[in-house]
Amino acid sequence: MDDKKWWQKGVVYQIYPRSFADSEGNGTGDLRGVISRLDYLEWLGIDAIWFSPIYPSPMADFGYDVSNYTDVHPMFGTLEDFDELVEEAHRRGLRVILDFVPNHTSDEHPWFVESRSSKSNPKRDWYIWADPASDEGLPNNWESNFGGPSWTWDETTGQYYLNSFDPKQADLNWRNPEVREAMYGVMRFWYERGVDGFRIDVLNIVIKDEELRDNPPDPNWKSGDTPWDWQSRVYSEDRPEVHEISAEMRELADSYGERVLIGEVYLPIERLMAYYGEALDGVHLPFNFQLILLEDWNAGKVRRIVDEYEAALPEGGWPNWVLGNHDNSRVASRISPERARLAQMLLLTLRGTPTVYYGDEIGMHDVEISEHLIVDPRGKDQPEFSRDPARTPMQWDDSPNAGFTTGDPWLPIAGDHAKINVAVQSEEPGSMLAFFRSLIRLRKKSPALSVGSYTAIEAGNDAIFAYMREHEGQQIVVALNFSEQTTRVDLTTAKGGGKILCSTHLDRTGALEPGQLELRPYEGLMVLTDSEKA
Ligand code: GLC
Repeated sequence: MDDKKWWQKGVVYQIYPRSFADSEGNGTGDLRGVISRLDYLEWLGIDAIWFSPIYPSPMADFGYDVSNYTDVHPMFGTLEDFDELVEEAHRRGLRVILDFVPNHTSDEHPWFVESRSSKSNPKRDWYIWADPASDEGLPNNWESNFGGPSWTWDETTGQYYLNSFDPKQADLNWRNPEVREAMYGVMRFWYERGVDGFRIDVLNIVIKDEELRDNPPDPNWKSGDTPWDWQSRVYSEDRPEVHEISAEMRELADSYGERVLIGEVYLPIERLMAYYGEALDGVHLPFNFQLILLEDWNAGKVRRIVDEYEAALPEGGWPNWVLGNHDNSRVASRISPERARLAQMLLLTLRGTPTVYYGDEIGMHDVEISEHLIVDPRGKDQPEFSRDPARTPMQWDDSPNAGFTTGDPWLPIAGDHAKINVAVQSEEPGSMLAFFRSLIRLRKKSPALSVGSYTAIEAGNDAIFAYMREHEGQQIVVALNFSEQTTRVDLTTAKGGGKILCSTHLDRTGALEPGQLELRPYEGLMVLTDSEKA
C-alpha cells in the first residue's frame, strides 16, 4: 500500500470559496473563513482540498475569469492569508490544490487589454483573433458554452476574438510559446508557495484547430441538451496537440516532487483515457464524470459505467470518481435524497480517488432560485442551465444564515438548513454526516478499499450492484440496493459469512451469517468476508 501516492489513497474535497465560510460578514466566503473550518475538514477525514479560483477577477464567471493569476482576490483575502491557509492545512495533513484556468483570461487581464489595443501589439497573438468570414459573418460556427456564438466583435481593431465561454473570458492562444511560458510561470509561482497540485479547468479545450474549421452538427443532440452540444466539437476541442501541453505541465509538476494534476475533461470514456498520456505523462487524474453524467441510476447502468471505465483505463492509470461539483445539480437532487447515501457509499468504495463536493457530506440539495435572482452567466439567458442552485452557502448550523455569514449571503440559503447542517448532524449518530465519516474512516483503514482491486460480482438480482474490493487477502464486498424494494441477494463470495462493516442506514454491524443477505430499500452494505487472512 505504501507505494501509492497521497493523491491515490486520499479523498479530495472541493470548496467553492464564495460559499464555504465568510469571516467578514460581507456575504461572500473567504480564505480566513476556510482557515476557521480546517478543524472540521480534518475531523471529516478528507485528505486534500481543491479550491475553485481565488484569484483577482471581475467575477463575470465567479472567478473563472482571472485578471491576475498570481494574487488573491481581495474579497477572498491576501497572499499572506493564503500562505497561512497552506501552512495550517499542511499542519493538519491536508493538501491544497488550486484551480488553474489556462483556456482563457478575463478581458480585464492586462494581457488582453494590451492584446486588443492594436493589431501590432506584441501581445496581439496571445489571444485568438480572426477576421470576419468573406460574407462579413462570424469567422466560423463555433458555439459558446454559455449560449450564442463564441466570437465577440472588437470595434477598435475590426476583428473578432474567441470566447468559448462568456465574452468576458477571452481564449488564450496556446500555440504561442510566450503564452505557454507565462502560464507555466504561474504554475511555478504557486508550487513555490507550497500548493500540492492543480485542477486544470477545461483542459481539453485549451488548444483548437489551427485553421478554425467549422464544427459539424452532432447527430446525437437531443432537446434538453445545451446549445453547446448542438455541434460535434471536433475542431474546437480535444485536438491532438493538447497532449503535448499536458505533458509539459506534467514535467513541470514532477520537477516539484509529489504534486498532482487533475484535468477537467468532459469526454466519453474512450477519448478521456488519452489524457493520462501515452506514456502516462499526461495529467495524473483526468476527471471521470461518469457518475455525474449518468441520468438513470439503476444497478445495471451504474455497474455498466464502472465496468466500462475500469476496462478502458490504461495500464498504470489511476482511476477517480466524481459525484458532484459546482457546475452540476447536487447529487441529492439529481438522484433523490433517499439514494444520496447509496451514492456516497459507491463513491467511497469504488477503486480510485474520490472527489467530494462541499456540503454533499450533509446531504445538501439544490436550492431553487427565482429567475430574476440568477447570477450565473450560464443561467442568465438560459435559466434551465443555471448553476446557482448547486452553489449555495455551506450549512454549518441552524442559525438564520446557517453559520455561513453574519451578512447578506450572496446566494440564498436552503429553506431546510435548520435540519440539514453540520452542527445538528454531528450530534446525531445516524445522520448523513455520521455515515459519511464512517465511510471515510473505513476507506482509510482498509487497504482493500483505498488501494485494492475491483471485481464486479454477479448478484443474481437486477436491483443490486455488488462488487468486491481486495488487497493482500483482505476482501470487502459492497452490495448496493438501488430499488425501493427489500431485496434478497446471494453473494457467493460472502457465503462463508463475514462481518458487516457499515450499512447506509447505520443500524447494522457485526457478524453476518453465511447465506442470503437482505437489503432494505436503497440500502447499501459493506461486508468484510471471513476469507481475510490478516
Ligand atoms: C469549467 C468550470 C466552470 C467554468 C468554465 C469556464 O467548466 O468548472 O465553472 O464556468 O470552466 O472557465
